[in-house]
Amino acid sequence: MVNEDKNEMVVTPWEVRGKVDYERLIREFGTQPLTDELLQKIAKYTGKLHLQLQRKLFFSHRDLDTVLDLYEKGTKFVLYTGRGPSGGVHIGHLVPWIFTKHLQDKFDTRLYFQMTDDEKFIIEDELKLEQTRNFAYENALDLIALGFKPENTFIIYDVQDIDILYDLALEVAKRITYSTAKATFGFQDSTNIGWVFWPAIQAVPCFIHAKLTGENVPALIPAAIDQDPYWRVTRDIAQKLGYYKPAQIHCRFLPGLGIGGKMSASQPETSIFTTDPPELVKRKIWNAFTGGKGTAAEQKKTGADPNICTIFQYFVYLFEEDTEKLTGRERKCKAGEVLCGECKAVLAERVNKFLAEHQKKREKAKNIVQEFHIKR
Ligand code: TRP
Repeated sequence: MVNEDKNEMVVTPWEVRGKVDYERLIREFGTQPLTDELLQKIAKYTGKLHLQLQRKLFFSHRDLDTVLDLYEKGTKFVLYTGRGPSGGVHIGHLVPWIFTKHLQDKFDTRLYFQMTDDEKFIIEDELKLEQTRNFAYENALDLIALGFKPENTFIIYDVQDIDILYDLALEVAKRITYSTAKATFGFQDSTNIGWVFWPAIQAVPCFIHAKLTGENVPALIPAAIDQDPYWRVTRDIAQKLGYYKPAQIHCRFLPGLGIGGKMSASQPETSIFTTDPPELVKRKIWNAFTGGKGTAAEQKKTGADPNICTIFQYFVYLFEEDTEKLTGRERKCKAGEVLCGECKAVLAERVNKFLAEHQKKREKAKNIVQEFHIKR
């Protein structure tokens, strides 16, 4: 977990730093790239590919092909994803959740959503249990605001719902050795023992559907690739417990508005939270790192670099659905025909429009949030 070089890529469930090389992650984590062939297989069920697939925001997987083959033969799957409630939700978090909603709609599946208020309490020195539990509630509002339905969406709040998790967590924990956990998560002598056991809890929702309903189907997990270590250990023991190995589809990180790294709640000035007021959003976007040049004159002459521009990434991830317009913006940027201020102004307007809607739905979610709580 210790890494001194600031530019060195570090991707663990607790830390994402440096310039992320996704090809290298596929190799090092041993996952599979999302091939065009597999994308076509998905399109068979979803029709036109979701924008996040078209743009390769989801880029890697484990066993997605197996899950689709089973689906074709009549075995459904359930979706599972989650959130570590250590603060407010920022728009980077929404990326995989929006995609999860799409999969749920197209494949007509259940979603189990884990709020790891226990994990964040154990891992973050500063956080009190009361705070992580409160964030879990607040974060659930953001999830629900995206349009999930209580009939097929089940939120698990770890601390409150430990009674339905604990027996399976024990079954999992008993089959993972300390040496495996240490090699996978980098535990050290100073690591608290809560942290050492905790991965068993994140494994449980992979199997909870089978336990609660008796229907043994695989789980498909859409999530950012930093969570992969959890699934590696879970996949190793799944079959010993009589369950399918959980499948994954991995997405990239939405970059923060600063240089390098992902959008991170611990850096509020470079993250746009779902509850940010319009003026604050404008200011954050205004201060963002772009691929622009020192002066307007220079930029008009030599063009700018959209590849390193955070603003451009936001258009790619969430705020330009029209691919022709997106490539048009890219071309103009490179040619020096558009200046950074213009892109920032357009983006700020779109983000604020999106957030105004989201914030309304988030308020309404307060009336129905209880309906989503997993039942015994
Ligand atoms: N550990 C995750 C986090 O810190 C939360 C989480 C639990 C999760 N289960 C998950 C994330 C399943 C993605 C998929 O954010």
